[in-house]
Amino acid sequence: MEKTFLMVKPDGVQRNLVGEIVKRFEAKGFKLAGAKLMVISESLAQNHYGEHKERPFFGDLVEFITSGPVFAMVWEGENVIKTARDMMGKTNPQEAASGTIRGDYGMTVGKNVIHGSDSVESAEREIGLFFDKSEIVDYTKQDSTWIY
Ligand code: PPS
Repeated sequence: MEKTFLMVKPDGVQRNLVGEIVKRFEAKGFKLAGAKLMVISESLAQNHYGEHKERPFFGDLVEFITSGPVFAMVWEGENVIKTARDMMGKTNPQEAASGTIRGDYGMTVGKNVIHGSDSVESAEREIGLFFDKSEIVDYTKQDSTWIY
């Protein structure tokens, strides 16, 4: 089953949105496979956002993402990478549709509440960066027969 990496950013943790965000993915029917509250080191932040290192906002992005705890998660389900991105909404919350996480809670493109992997390759890379294999839990959910 497909897996994705999702992360409630420091603004989302400070604004008490962790429960609301987890609730949305649980209610959708996805399966939580790993989760932890953590403070990202500068080197992990630079690695995670490495593809943006030439962009003008890179310094602000690293400073923001390391400024407080984040809630890192691995979610599992059919087509979870794309569906989670749809549920998150556009990167700029001012353009994100109502009903999406960023549309409902985000304020600016910098502080946009949540990060989600954008492809199978980035999901594998990001899960590997943030989680040890032993932290990913393989289990069966009783309700999965009602979903698939
Ligand atoms: S996307 O979805 O990858 O195409 O978005 P992109 O516009 O390339 O932005 C990549 C990440 O950088 C964050 N971002 C910013 N942070 C701080 N300041 C400014 N101005 C800014 N612009 C973009 C944006 O939230 C994306 O973070 P993630 O965690 O990937 O969503």
